[in-house]
Amino acid sequence: MTLTISTPLYYVNDKPHLGSTYTTIACDAIARYYRLEGERVLFITGVDEHGQKIQQTAQLKNINPKEHCDLVVTQYLELWKLLDIKFDRFIRTTSSKHKKFVETFYKKVKESGDIKQGKQQGWYCVGCEEYKDIPKTSEAPICAIHQKKLEWRDEDNLFFCLSNYQEQIMALVQDNSFIRPSTRRNEIINFVSSGLRDFSISRQNVDWAITVPDDNSQTLYVWFDALLGYLSALYPDENNIDLASLDNLGWPAHLHVIGKDILRFHAVYWPAMLLSAGLKLPKQVFGHGFLTREGQKMGKSLGNVLDPKDLLMKYDRDSIRWYLLSDIKFGSDGDFQESRFIDLINNDLANTIGNLLNRTSTMSRKWFNNKIPLIEKDNPDESIISEYTSNIITIVKQAYLNYDFKLVCESIIKLASQANTYLNDNQPWTKVKQSDNLSDVSSIIYNVLETSRIIGFLLLPIIPDIGSKIIYQLGYKEIPNTWNEELSWGVLQPGANLPKPYPVINKLERE
Ligand code: MSP
Repeated sequence: MTLTISTPLYYVNDKPHLGSTYTTIACDAIARYYRLEGERVLFITGVDEHGQKIQQTAQLKNINPKEHCDLVVTQYLELWKLLDIKFDRFIRTTSSKHKKFVETFYKKVKESGDIKQGKQQGWYCVGCEEYKDIPKTSEAPICAIHQKKLEWRDEDNLFFCLSNYQEQIMALVQDNSFIRPSTRRNEIINFVSSGLRDFSISRQNVDWAITVPDDNSQTLYVWFDALLGYLSALYPDENNIDLASLDNLGWPAHLHVIGKDILRFHAVYWPAMLLSAGLKLPKQVFGHGFLTREGQKMGKSLGNVLDPKDLLMKYDRDSIRWYLLSDIKFGSDGDFQESRFIDLINNDLANTIGNLLNRTSTMSRKWFNNKIPLIEKDNPDESIISEYTSNIITIVKQAYLNYDFKLVCESIIKLASQANTYLNDNQPWTKVKQSDNLSDVSSIIYNVLETSRIIGFLLLPIIPDIGSKIIYQLGYKEIPNTWNEELSWGVLQPGANLPKPYPVINKLERE
């Protein structure tokens, strides 16, 4: 079975910012975790290129929308490369396979009788590309997210008959496993309880979009088009676009990771569209919180974004990953603060984990000639540290499964602190001075090397560079693809050579 997981398809109205980077890093950590568990993963990301917002941005720059999209797409791809995001598919909604898929899907939904003519009136936010449920007033209301005036629209459009799916969607959103975290479920249940209304899926005056297949006076609404990217991404190319083959291509998705602002689209509209086309539903949708800066959502339209490339000039990618995943509970909002960033990296990574590695590698080099020491019969407190490690492994694996990265990180730090305490309690440096016999300390060092090795593996999904460096430092020639055998105690072979120690984690300096 393939586990298909996805990020949202990002609007290309501007270069990527830390908000989109956050979602992508989280998804990358999930994908890496599942791969280490031995699962076949299909990690989809990509870009949402159509719609009025993109059209307007290109107009302002005086270039054609495709040219604009190409430029921004390059910036996304460059950033994902710099961050070592290991995606399997990158879908562009301007690609010909996507267009072909959208046409096929539209036809199917129409055959199901779920497309009708209607009149759409209401306040529209171009930033959200969404009608807002606000009554008509003489003064234009302001979008709470984009802080921009809404526009009144009144046009004849095609509608998708969402109301036909009221009961099925209600059952779906009430299912405890579909919407995560559970705190977001009620908001959607309330929305569905208020009665699902058909929504317009076409526009009369947006040229930069896919033309409605049987009505070239209109184009498809950007959200109707974009959601289908999760499906079109699965096809190798534009040939043989056939809904029946989706089962073999990785559908249904295991997980859509999205921000909380687009949960309704994913938990309500999207499943209804899939039901209409006779397709399976995704297993789970996770709506994470917003990264804020000074308490306000970080966003392109608000102009308060942090450019991940600027951060990458100052800090390594693992520091950025660690901060975003360890400091903010996945699902809740989090405020980005650079001083906290530096403190966390220095305390968790440099002081706790780095210190453990430095101490053990120094001792192994000095006393055991850069070799893994022997395990003596009298292995002091081995069961204490190995059982502690085994409990942490259980907690960390469960936390990964719950996408609770904060708990993952906290637990790994606890394990490193425990290993530091174990060293302090056992005082190998004092024991060595007291007797010439290294057998008194060899097991202590072995236990700490084993703990460090397991820490390296547990860190791989969150901070792959540092995790790998720890593992290499313990004598591995390559990083295993799966971790199941590696997470047992006693894998290091006594007598095996350790490479020359090198710094794995550097302390960050304040400017
Ligand atoms: N194009 C749509 C998604 C279509 S999916 C078929 C879209 N794009 S977006 O670029 O505006 O947003 C993409 C994602 O980034 C959303 O999940 C959104 O919640 C997330 N974020 C945008 N700003 C964010 C923060 N400041 N913090 C965290 N995530 C943020 O919506």
